[in-house]
Amino acid sequence: MKSSLKDKWVLITGASSGFGAAAARAFGAEGAKLLLGARRVDRLKTVAADAKKSGAVAAHFHELDVSKTASVEEFISWAKKLVQSPKSKAQSLHVLINNAGGAHGLDTIACGKDADWEAMIQSNVLGILRVTRSALPLMPRDAGASIINIGSVAGRTAYEGGAVYCAAKAGELQITRALRLELFGTGIRVGTVDPGLAETEFSLVRFKGDAAKAKNVYAGTNPLTAEDIAEILVWVASRPAHVNIDELLVKPVDQVAVGKVFRRKTN
Ligand SMILES: NC(=O)c1ccc[n+]([C@@H]2O[C@H](COP(=O)([O-])OP(=O)(O)OC[C@H]3O[C@@H](n4cnc5c(N)ncnc54)[C@H](OP(=O)(O)O)[C@@H]3O)[C@@H](O)[C@H]2O)c1
Repeated sequence: MKSSLKDKWVLITGASSGFGAAAARAFGAEGAKLLLGARRVDRLKTVAADAKKSGAVAAHFHELDVSKTASVEEFISWAKKLVQSPKSKAQSLHVLINNAGGAHGLDTIACGKDADWEAMIQSNVLGILRVTRSALPLMPRDAGASIINIGSVAGRTAYEGGAVYCAAKAGELQITRALRLELFGTGIRVGTVDPGLAETEFSLVRFKGDAAKAKNVYAGTNPLTAEDIAEILVWVASRPAHVNIDELLVKPVDQVAVGKVFRRKTN
């Protein structure tokens, strides 16, 4: 039977756009209490208001840069005050979604830039480690609590120009697997949701704001939407407490493999 998310604390990193923003609305519709983090606080404000309209019992937001330990620690101590306030019925974090991340550039290794490499490792790998380390004390032995990391098909298949992003997401996959072993016996569930081609701000970030280049990635094909992933995240977190969805790989029907995408003719 489905486990209820009503009145449960759900923390989402990278909630200012794409999967994270859609997840805020989807968990909101389940009556959850949200803790939302990202660097763009103006965007978080809008997402929190939308989540409240969807039915969230509460939607709090705070600046978060997962690439900086001090920012992560400040964010989690802010979250702790809310979760463990005398008014809060549930005194623990029920769901942690490590979603913040993305790709920077599509250069080959020969032409790669240090700043891009460092940003990808910081957000996709070290960010998950930092947030998880800080948030774990808010997740005591709690049957049915979940940590869901966002990986990618890129963590399972390499492609040209994607060396560091693929390495980062392969790192995410192994971190998820190790964490599940480390939390053995606690009742906390650990899983990864690994999407393929999805239309969000992902390509806009990868191509540093070049909208035409970003749009071209999705030309003539039917990619996944942020809502598709949000629905899956809610499903994973609401399985009965004894069920762990270890690894979930999801691609659009038009994408049979990382580099093989069906495209209809467009004028
Ligand atoms: N779209 C795809 O095709 C696809 C496929 C597989 C996996 N993914 C993964 O899915 C996750 C979400 O991406 P998306 O597709 O939803 O892209 P998106 O629309 O660009 O969203 C990325 C989110 O991550 C946040 N973020 C990035 N760096 C951060 C940092 N240092 N600290 C805090 N937040 C940070 C961004 O917020 P701020 O900029 O406001 O900080 C934004 O909210 C990423 O981990 C991405 O790698 C995406």
